[in-house]
Amino acid sequence: MKVDVLLGLQWGDEGKGKVVDVLTPDYDVIARFQGGPNAGHSLEFHEIKHVLHTIPSGIFHESSINIIGSGVVIDPIIFAQEIESLRELGVEPTKNLSISKKAHLIMPSHRELDAASEASKGKSKIGSTLKGIGPTYMDKTGRNGLRVGNVIGPDFMERYNQLKNKHKNILKQYDYSANIEQHEKAWFAGIEVLKQFKLIDSEYEVNNYLKEEYKILAEGAQGSLLDIDFGSYPFVTSSNTICAGACIGLGLAPSAIGSVFGIFKAYCTRVGAGPFPTELFDEVGQKLRDEGKEYGSTTGRPRRCGWLDLVALKYVVMINGITNLIMTKADVLDTFDTIKIATAYRIDGVETQEMPFDIDVEMEPVYKEFKGWKSSITDMRSEEELPAELLDFIRYIETETGVPVSIVSVGPDRDATIIRK
Ligand code: GDP
Ligand code: IMO
Ligand code: MG
Repeated sequence: MKVDVLLGLQWGDEGKGKVVDVLTPDYDVIARFQGGPNAGHSLEFHEIKHVLHTIPSGIFHESSINIIGSGVVIDPIIFAQEIESLRELGVEPTKNLSISKKAHLIMPSHRELDAASEASKGKSKIGSTLKGIGPTYMDKTGRNGLRVGNVIGPDFMERYNQLKNKHKNILKQYDYSANIEQHEKAWFAGIEVLKQFKLIDSEYEVNNYLKEEYKILAEGAQGSLLDIDFGSYPFVTSSNTICAGACIGLGLAPSAIGSVFGIFKAYCTRVGAGPFPTELFDEVGQKLRDEGKEYGSTTGRPRRCGWLDLVALKYVVMINGITNLIMTKADVLDTFDTIKIATAYRIDGVETQEMPFDIDVEMEPVYKEFKGWKSSITDMRSEEELPAELLDFIRYIETETGVPVSIVSVGPDRDATIIRK
């Protein structure tokens, strides 16, 4: 048995939460492997709309085992809030959620450091979600971090205070008034909530499940263009969001990876700063934002919108070894007369189909135009019903990437999903 991986292929918010929830009945285990509460994964079903940040999107299916892997960073305050809101919906997560002891903890001082660092950057702000992600991964790689497994150790308070004091010293160098202590009560209450869960050696757990022939789906957060190594650096997050991140964040051998599902929107969005070659600043961009309700699930910020970027899509298909594509939000384009896809960039008058080192340079996208289908696809449930113009659009993407589009999502609801043969 192999582990299948589901990844966002753009700058996040491609619809990972929705699709993982749809696929969960086919799997025994759903495991998050990186990122933290910077993620906001929305699920809609039976009139419920719910956003998950740290918890895997399989949680609503009682029979699925959900794992927060070692590559994830957890803020106990946000985690406790997530648990509370699940309990309000009648879900008892202690039954089917366990947490890696090796996952790192986001401390109140990490969040303050994130805010101080962003404030100091002025115009070159990354547009971080300010959840403390960068500073927590820095402490992990700097070998200073506090891990979930430490919460049950006798020296937990000592470790906590030592790291907090280190952060306080760093904060003195910023012109920023931090208030760590005001969040500590909630943070330690969150630690008590964490302790209600099975704290596991997730690498053993996942590999044992594999031996027992359990079906496992690894759920990515963010998107490949936010990857720390291959994204639009420095406007990226601080983890490996690509397929290889699933091996690192779950303790899996590369040979254990099976299908790699890459999810993308039929257009493109980005929240936060950084290059976005196909961004639209006109009424077409605003129409994408309005029709697609493109406002952040975590921060509520308006998302920047533009056309689908095939140069970037081919790049991430290569990096991730995508075996199946999943296209979401095509319904957002239902009323458009013309739809465009960028097939190349023109830089200094020269066309290229490769991502340049510095994607902040003047790059003019070269577009191919498609005729809009001008009809509502949201209620369609089979490939046969889909308009010919949309099928042309899909086939073009398949030909160019060499990967089949296996699922088309036509609305936010669990049911609004077409599995293609
Ligand atoms: P994630 O971070 O990848 O899980 O994506 P988000 O949940 O942040 O953002 C995706 C948004 O699009 C959510 O509001 C979803 O409910 C919604 N969504 C997902 N798939 C579709 C779709 O096919 N059509 C439409 N109209 N909305 C969708
Ligand atoms: P999901 O999983 C969209 C973006 C932020 C910012 C940059 C760095 O819901 O797709 P960070 O908080 O990690 O320091 O922010 O990355 N970002 C996301 N954008 N969706 C996400 O997650 C994101 N997680 C981080 O906006 O530009
Ligand atoms: Mg999101």
